[in-house]
Amino acid sequence: MINKIHFGKRIAAHRKELHLSQAELSEKLGVSSQAVSKWECGTALPDLDLLLKLSHLFGVSINDLLEDRDIIAKLAKCEYENDGIAYFVPKSEKGCNKEWADEIIRDDWIARNFNSNKAENAISDEIGRRIAEHGGTILEIGAGPGGGFMPYVLKANPEATVIISDISPTIVSEWKRFLDRELNSPEIYYAVFNFCNIPFKDACVDVISDGGGIGNTERGTGTKEMALKEAYRVLKPGGLLVTSTGFVNKEMLGALTENVGQILKDKRPDIFEDLYEETVLAGFKKIDSVISGSWDTDNDDSDIADLARSIGVNLRFTSYIRYCQK
Ligand SMILES: C[S@@+](CC[C@H](N)C(=O)[O-])C[C@H]1O[C@@H](n2cnc3c(N)ncnc32)[C@H](O)[C@@H]1O
Repeated sequence: MINKIHFGKRIAAHRKELHLSQAELSEKLGVSSQAVSKWECGTALPDLDLLLKLSHLFGVSINDLLEDRDIIAKLAKCEYENDGIAYFVPKSEKGCNKEWADEIIRDDWIARNFNSNKAENAISDEIGRRIAEHGGTILEIGAGPGGGFMPYVLKANPEATVIISDISPTIVSEWKRFLDRELNSPEIYYAVFNFCNIPFKDACVDVISDGGGIGNTERGTGTKEMALKEAYRVLKPGGLLVTSTGFVNKEMLGALTENVGQILKDKRPDIFEDLYEETVLAGFKKIDSVISGSWDTDNDDSDIADLARSIGVNLRFTSYIRYCQK
């Protein structure tokens, strides 16, 4: 079945690529600008001779205009179940994640996060713009309820080609449910897989966007090092990994007494994990690190904040965005 809304969006995207207004396109085709407007809104389809004219004008086939692409079929290196979402892991939520998943649905986290990301945010908007400008096929890994950088990529370019992925089927299906309503873009795809074992071929995607997924690799799914190596493998040469990570840096550690530093290293070695060396070891040679913010445990109610309070310190975590080129 032809999805008229998607068809209309493709016509609008091609028209904009040629820097044509609806009126200019209609003039070239000898139709009214209302006709073009109806196609682009998805309320009507052009007849065959107009379709042919459009395909010549845009330099694509009629099939490319009418049919949705199946990007994941081209990228996948193994079989998967597909119902609009590509499942490379079981379709049902793991027992240990069920409560979290139910909360995400009940409290409408996805819509709330996406809508709050519409407000101006200089740092995240810049990340989204840089990813969108790189363009091509953008793979968001460990999208989570916040969507990582994807909301900012779509803010910069609502027509971007984005694959939204997570190991949690609930996360991915909730993103699909929301974005089908919100944007209904033919260029957004959905996949459920483990980013420590990405089920895609080598050198097939242009950007991997990781807004805090790798830093929170779920126990039992693999390691952060595996995830970075997988990101390197599936990126095309020249491809970009944008990853964010927050940790207690060397300056902060140096400001603590030796005793406190040792207690923290023993109890929570993960809070010092920088992942820079691991990123280099994965193969990335050109890494541009940008500090994007910081937070203090004094203002937090996490486990690590409780530990910091119990030993009488305020820990500062610094967040870094890393732009890593393959
Ligand atoms: C704490 S969330 C935070 C980041 C998320 N990008 C956001 O903006 O909300 C981490 C996400 O990574 C996902 N995740 C953890 N380990 C994963 C793995 N091995 N493969 C794929 N996704 C994973 C989790 O399911 C979760 O949704």
